[in-house]
Amino acid sequence: MKRVMLVLALLAALVVPARAALAQGGEEQDDQEAPYRGAAVYAEFCQACHGDQGQGRGEGPAFRAITFDPETAHDIIADGLDRDSTDGAAMPPFAQLSGGLLTARQIDDLLAYMATWGTGQTPPLPAPNLDAVIADYVPDEGGRLDAGAEIYATSCYGCHGRSGLGRVPPNFPPLTVSNNTLALTRDGTNNPFMPAFGAEHGGPLDDAALDDLNAYLASWTVAEPLEDPSSEGYGTLLILMGIAALLVVGGVTMAREMDV
Ligand code: HEC
Ligand code: HEC
Repeated sequence: MKRVMLVLALLAALVVPARAALAQGGEEQDDQEAPYRGAAVYAEFCQACHGDQGQGRGEGPAFRAITFDPETAHDIIADGLDRDSTDGAAMPPFAQLSGGLLTARQIDDLLAYMATWGTGQTPPLPAPNLDAVIADYVPDEGGRLDAGAEIYATSCYGCHGRSGLGRVPPNFPPLTVSNNTLALTRDGTNNPFMPAFGAEHGGPLDDAALDDLNAYLASWTVAEPLEDPSSEGYGTLLILMGIAALLVVGGVTMAREMDV
């Protein structure tokens, strides 16, 4: 019995380090995936301003091209940057520790992705996650809504989240749809993190794109009442009461006929 225990203990002593080594190998393999994970983070949070490979999206200062400098990029992504406080544009702080949304690992993934720019090995950005922005109740009115949903997914979702519910205020705040929404999107607010997206201000969205976006944003307000579960419950109750009434009337009529 004692011998068996000894053999088991020896086996364990061999297996545990072996497994640890394997796990490390696994992590290394994981690192090859880092640029791909980084591409997904970039697609969600960065292409809105910097374009799909950092080439920029317009003349406006917020939509500038960026150069990847591994020495400074980490801190700029984590803590934001505002070199010129008069140009109305700034880079928001993205690290969770600075009130943003990204973990340390996601920032490392971003750096791994950006390091592939210009190497010919840049992974493609994943398609926008339309499932996350198109809720089930969006009525199907053809291309424009779809186009608007795609613009929202690539230009707004990173900061304003699903259905404009917001993510981490104040820099990633909720967005309420009103008569003013289109103008605020086109012209921006006084907040350097909410730049003017309209082409007339050097942004990426021309009037047609703004119309598409507007059609999509409007669909949030149109459809919300349909979602109210209590009204659905009320409808079911009405139908049940109707059936009950029919049964009573039918029963009374039958009883009368039998009387005759
Ligand atoms: C609201 C638009 C906006 C978004 C979204 C944005 N940036 Fe920026 N970014 C800027 C602006 C504006 C600057 C320049 C700031 C300055 O010089 O004061 C900048 C600068 C930078 C710089 C410094 C390099 C350079 O050439 O200026 C890096 C790196 C960078 N951004 C990376 C990112 C990454 C990565 C993301 C996504 C996590 C991101 N940015 C999201 C607006 C944005
Ligand atoms: C880099 C983050 C960021 C991105 C990307 C962004 N916004 Fe904003 N947005 C903000 C911030 C921060 C505010 C709050 C501005 C303020 O307080 O003045 C804001 C405010 C707004 C407002 C006014 C507030 C309200 O409730 O009506 C509207 C409208 C708006 N954003 C629409 C959009 C649309 C549409 C897009 C995509 C085309 C977009 N934003 C992209 C950060 C962002």
